[in-house]
Amino acid sequence: MPTRSKSAKSEPTKSEPAIWLRKDLLDTADLNLADFNLIFETTEAMIEVRERPVARTTTLRGTTLATLFYENSTRTRASFEIAGKALGADVVNLSASQSSVGKGESLIDTVRTLEAIGADILVLRHPLSGASTLASKYTNASVINAGDGMHAHPTQALLDLFTIKQHLGELSGRKIVIVGDILHSRVARSNIWALLTLGAQITLCGPATLLPKYFTQHKSDLQNVTVTTNLKTALSNADVVMTLRLQKERQRNSIIPSLSEYIRNYQINNDTIALAKSTAIVMHPGPVNAGFEISQEVAEGKQSVISAQITNGVAIRMALLYLFATRTTDFPA
Ligand code: CP
Repeated sequence: MPTRSKSAKSEPTKSEPAIWLRKDLLDTADLNLADFNLIFETTEAMIEVRERPVARTTTLRGTTLATLFYENSTRTRASFEIAGKALGADVVNLSASQSSVGKGESLIDTVRTLEAIGADILVLRHPLSGASTLASKYTNASVINAGDGMHAHPTQALLDLFTIKQHLGELSGRKIVIVGDILHSRVARSNIWALLTLGAQITLCGPATLLPKYFTQHKSDLQNVTVTTNLKTALSNADVVMTLRLQKERQRNSIIPSLSEYIRNYQINNDTIALAKSTAIVMHPGPVNAGFEISQEVAEGKQSVISAQITNGVAIRMALLYLFATRTTDFPA
């Protein structure tokens, strides 16, 4: 488990200006409260753009966005493309199978090539943890991490948090329960760091083999994080229930005894969601394995905000593209 960078712990001061200074977005652990507020305020403005009869602007005309995906994606890739086009950017989409990666080109060479042909912002998904951090060191383009191995998926966490705020208001003091394969989940990690900065109470729940030891070993630093294997305890008084995709390949690796036992103990269904607050919302980053980690009824039920998460993904990514394309590299005089 990676440690949080020092900048994640630094609180913004009242005099800190609401401007975007960062070159890259590698993880939510790098963001402070002012960053989150600026992203969420900008996202509100982007929702207003999305609601116009013609949901497009030319704000990013002249900006080139390159998406580079070494892993499959539906939501993240499509929403970055839609976001870039909605703001008038030129968008180039590359997947590893179509690029010269298949001929042995390294990640660093690919990134440098994309910069040389004019990419201002590079969205990267890669199976290796740390790939976006590496890429960011070899390009002047802004790098947005669209998921790297087990490490981080910051834009997913941002859209998750925005969706919670939209439905429940402020996050401070809210009980957020994350259920499932937390050990292997970059979505869970990015959500945990962000939720801690925003003052939420976090409960991590799953089989012992799928819970990261980091959170039990660093209790003094992480007083707002509770870890349990008991779903009933976890869901009591929950405001938000965030389910994670059950990575079925883990069962083949004997990390969980059987799918049926997992379903019996950890599935979010009509019986288990009744243990949370009646006002609780149910979330899932997708792709959903209905019938495994979550029942079809709950995934499509009145407490589910899964569709809203996907929709908000476009506005969050529009906001980030806007902030990076218009970022200030120096404080104004
Ligand atoms: N949540 C998520 O990252 O989905 P995709 O893999 O479809 O992008």
